[in-house]
Amino acid sequence: MQYVKRFALYFLFVIVLNRLQAQNTGEPNYDESKVPAYTLPNVLKTVTNRQVRNKATWEQLRRPEIIKLFEDNVYGQMPKAFDRLTYSIKRENISAMAGKATLKEVLIEVVHDQKRLAINLVLFVPTKPKGPVPVFLLINNRGKENTDPIRAHKSDFWPAEMVIDSGYAIAAFHVSDLAPDDTVSYVNGVLRLYPEQVTAPNGMRAIGAWAWGASRVLDYFEKDPSIDAKKVAIVGHSRGGKAALWAAAEDQRFAMCFSNCSGNTGAALSRRRFGETIRRINTVFPHWFAKNYKKFNNNEDLLPVDQHMLLAAIAPRPLYVTNASKDLWADPTGTYLSLKNASSVYALYKLGSNLPANPPAINQPIINSSLGYHNREGEHNLTAYDWNSFLKFADVYLKSR
Ligand code: GCU
Repeated sequence: MQYVKRFALYFLFVIVLNRLQAQNTGEPNYDESKVPAYTLPNVLKTVTNRQVRNKATWEQLRRPEIIKLFEDNVYGQMPKAFDRLTYSIKRENISAMAGKATLKEVLIEVVHDQKRLAINLVLFVPTKPKGPVPVFLLINNRGKENTDPIRAHKSDFWPAEMVIDSGYAIAAFHVSDLAPDDTVSYVNGVLRLYPEQVTAPNGMRAIGAWAWGASRVLDYFEKDPSIDAKKVAIVGHSRGGKAALWAAAEDQRFAMCFSNCSGNTGAALSRRRFGETIRRINTVFPHWFAKNYKKFNNNEDLLPVDQHMLLAAIAPRPLYVTNASKDLWADPTGTYLSLKNASSVYALYKLGSNLPANPPAINQPIINSSLGYHNREGEHNLTAYDWNSFLKFADVYLKSR
């Protein structure tokens, strides 16, 4: 017996040691059997332990609580006040794309405390629409050539022609206008307007800044009569997909959200520690999240939130998240589980209840659900396949209303 006990203790010791070693070396785990046991925070239980049973308690109590928890612990605050927002059309071409669209290059300027920030927006609107049109807005975290206004360069990352042909407007801004994606120069954007954020432990950083920019573009859409500002779909890939989720959670004016391959601190559950981890993301990208987030390096279980709660904060608006089969870094299974765990909140609105328990097979999109999903075959990227599914999803939830 003594022997058995000793052996059991030794065995336990080896397991704990292995886990600690894996955490400390920062080696990513890609083995499902090594996902630790974890308990997700209950999205429907308030911090004072009150069970949320209806929309009213969700909207008045729990949702604001969750947003605050994400602000304080993960993405940082989202400054709401500014002195002035103006815009000017820098270039317009009413016969772009061989007459199929009108191109507008818009300069949006935000002034606060006598400091000025410029956001450059590229926007194509279908020619002769019946009225204001819904729009897809991409947070562009890749090269500016992807959103080429003169269309000399065409890219599946932002397939403007395909979206225009489907009857939607399409727009994009580049993250560098808001916060350069760099550990040092990220402060040279919107953070110049809010310097107090840079030092605050729960201050906004790059991902928050990009989401903030998406909301300023939405402010502009509200002034553009060709756009239906009640039907703005925010789209982002990877780090841009993290920002898209945060934008949609923070700003309820976004009608729909597409988060492509967003992974850690995007749509994937952090507690699974599969692929990228909080420690790794905070180490390699220290300028993305609030300083407070670093407290959770190797400490996922202490987080008062997990990412399913971010997805839930978007309810009841339609949300579509994706993965790519070879992109294990972004944890496809953890992403689907996150979506599944957000569905109890959509259920308060009688939505999203048809999500299967297990992830669908590769290239089998779930379109007919307010919580949509696909795992595309292939690499980490935003492709024509992804956009094609986005358009189908939008046709169900944006066009028909
Ligand atoms: C890195 C990073 C991810 C991010 C990705 C991207 O891989 O670790 O968190 O999503 O870059 O933005 O492409």
